[in-house]
Amino acid sequence: MVIRKIAVNTGGGDAPGLNAVLRAVTLSALRLGWEVVGIRDGYLGLLEMPPEEGLIPLTRERVRGINHQGGTIIGTTNRGNPFEFPVKQDGKIIAKDRSDEIVAAFRRHGFDALVAVGGDGSLSIAHRLCHKGIPVVGVPKTIDNDLSATFLTFGFDTAVTTATDALDKLHSTAESHGRVMVVEMMGRTTGWIALHAGVAGSADVILIPEIPFDLETVCEAIRIRDRMGRRYSIVVVAEGAAPAGAEVRTKGEKEIGREVRLGGIAEWLAGEIADRTGKETRSIVLGHLQRGGGPTSFDRLMALRFGAAAVRTLAEGLSDVMVALQPPNVHAVPLAEAVVGRRSISLDGDTIATARSLEICLGAPAV
Ligand code: F6P
Repeated sequence: MVIRKIAVNTGGGDAPGLNAVLRAVTLSALRLGWEVVGIRDGYLGLLEMPPEEGLIPLTRERVRGINHQGGTIIGTTNRGNPFEFPVKQDGKIIAKDRSDEIVAAFRRHGFDALVAVGGDGSLSIAHRLCHKGIPVVGVPKTIDNDLSATFLTFGFDTAVTTATDALDKLHSTAESHGRVMVVEMMGRTTGWIALHAGVAGSADVILIPEIPFDLETVCEAIRIRDRMGRRYSIVVVAEGAAPAGAEVRTKGEKEIGREVRLGGIAEWLAGEIADRTGKETRSIVLGHLQRGGGPTSFDRLMALRFGAAAVRTLAEGLSDVMVALQPPNVHAVPLAEAVVGRRSISLDGDTIATARSLEICLGAPAV
């Protein structure tokens, strides 16, 4: 495969470190004499915009000084799946497969390969486009850290740092008022952010989707603390956590081409805890704060390593792969392995064991 010009896009929810990836991809590619173009907003820059708006030439000047910046200078979206694109027909929104238009536009603009920076949704799309003839290397991005085949994704460390910082701040106000604070964290169907921030930030209860919880167990942990003179408690709950046998809480309707939004568990849980324990309880949703701001130095470095590795991987002639952290190094793994399904927390892992050793209530006894 002879490469002269590559495209790069960022898809799905943004994550701190995207700009560092763009800088590493651009500088590494320019060094090989390749041209680099950013597609605006996932694939929308190819599907819905004129080239002067949808295609952003990534030059040395364009990527200068962006390593530490949050967000993405080329934009992103979680509504632009070309295989399931929402279009209006007879007054109804239906899904249309527009992937052939992407392939045609890709050829028209003379792109030889694509670096797709995304989570499981965006990388599944990239994998399918690869099967339609577009050479692709994926870069693992998501604050949720739930991608298979990589030890971690960039963005996760920053989200955990932000969430831990929030817990540190909530401790003092919870203690002053003798209240229970219920803190909802992102993560979709996995509890990586909640578990890591909860342990680091000394939560008293951590509830994750991987362990369906029992409300009485949670309330009893709070009552025990009360009897020991600890009048306040910090409860961390992942947005995808649910009591055993209950459904995950969602917001709004499922829209074509995107996943249903999760949320609402903290408010519900705070009400239940207040009713059952008699404690004054407040809920807080950290929400998109966890995706905002500049990357930690760890995420920044990870993003730079992934970006540079993506270009090296293309230069080696590989395609349909994702660069993945398999400590201590970054390696190329088949994209198919990355998109097999979300990577959950192993209940046998030592972070769960650490939480239990620290007497943090996980909502249910170990099995
Ligand atoms: O996948 C990243 C993520 O932040 C999830 O943790 C969260 O459920 C979702 O995206 C929120 O998406 P949106 O930005 O559409 O509200």
